[in-house]
Amino acid sequence: MAETAPLLQVERLAKRYPVSGRRGALLHAVDDVSLHIAPGESLGLVGESGCGKSTLVRLLARLIDASEGRIVFGGADLAEVPARRFALRPERAGIQMVFQDPTDSLNPRYTARDTIAEPCRLLAGMDAAAANARVDEVAEQVGLPTALLSRFPHQLSGGQRARVGIARALAPGPKLLILDEPTAALDVSVQAVVLQLLDRLRRELNLATLFVSHDLNVVRLLTDRVAVMYLGKIVEMGPSQQLFAAPQHPYTRALVSSIPGHGPRLRLEGEVSSPIDPPPQVCRFASRCPEVQDRCRREAPVLHAGVHGVACHFAKATEVPA
Ligand SMILES: Nc1ncnc2c1ncn2[C@@H]1O[C@H](COP(=O)(O)OP(=O)(O)OP(=O)(O)O)[C@@H](O)[C@H]1O
Ligand SMILES: [Mg+2]
Repeated sequence: MAETAPLLQVERLAKRYPVSGRRGALLHAVDDVSLHIAPGESLGLVGESGCGKSTLVRLLARLIDASEGRIVFGGADLAEVPARRFALRPERAGIQMVFQDPTDSLNPRYTARDTIAEPCRLLAGMDAAAANARVDEVAEQVGLPTALLSRFPHQLSGGQRARVGIARALAPGPKLLILDEPTAALDVSVQAVVLQLLDRLRRELNLATLFVSHDLNVVRLLTDRVAVMYLGKIVEMGPSQQLFAAPQHPYTRALVSSIPGHGPRLRLEGEVSSPIDPPPQVCRFASRCPEVQDRCRREAPVLHAGVHGVACHFAKATEVPA
């Protein structure tokens, strides 16, 4: 793989929330996460509900503040900028997010044109005429007919609202697009169309994307690399084809076995351990791991850097032919 300077470099990022009613207790939503995304690259993020995917992408979009770690983008450490001040930073235009439910994230009193024009003016510093021209340009890119631009969200279909949300994210010319379950709120018939649109846009515009989805088949098809999260940590990360063809971590193996056609279904037993003050020396997956050994409760495995990393004492990342 050719080495290009990463667009985004995340180092040892953590987010811990205080637990109400339990003084001093902390919920570890994201723990010691390091990753990078190259320009134009698509990274998938998968893992079961509650493992920290949305918290991680919200940290990267600078909607919430990190407890620890670095988020290096465009040569600056964005983790040092408080979330409430991030809107004023020039990098704000470079990282844009498409939210899960366009109905919730669109202002009901704004027309589609107002919605898309807003980041052009506020983030990209365009005057009204330039913003209007930019709205027409991105509306065409996302397949939104000009006639719909004067409508309010409630006058649009779910698929059309999703296109408005995507157009708004593209409007200030981002280099990184963060997609948190971008089609989860849509009708099944529209999901595939919107996913194809996102895939086409990222290729045409050479956009880097971070793509969170529960649909592993979609992640396999639409991403270059994938990161697998379990209880706040990345347990495996590597090229998508290789990772899905030969998952190494026992958790990834169980996850991949749930995709039809990927061998017999491996069902995990045991309880998910608590994200509140997890013992640092114990593997987070130990309580459910079919291959657990004594060492896993004495020494937490770390994810080794490399093309295909696995955080397990007993798994080895192997190169498989593409
Ligand atoms: N604002 C918050 N305050 C306290 N705890 C939070 C907060 N936001 C998230 N959490 C906790 O952090 C953990 C990770 O949540 P997160 O929403 O990131 O998971 P997720 O992987 O996105 O799940 P899903 O697939 O269901 O969207 C969970 O245990 C959740 O309860
Ligand atoms: Mg989520």
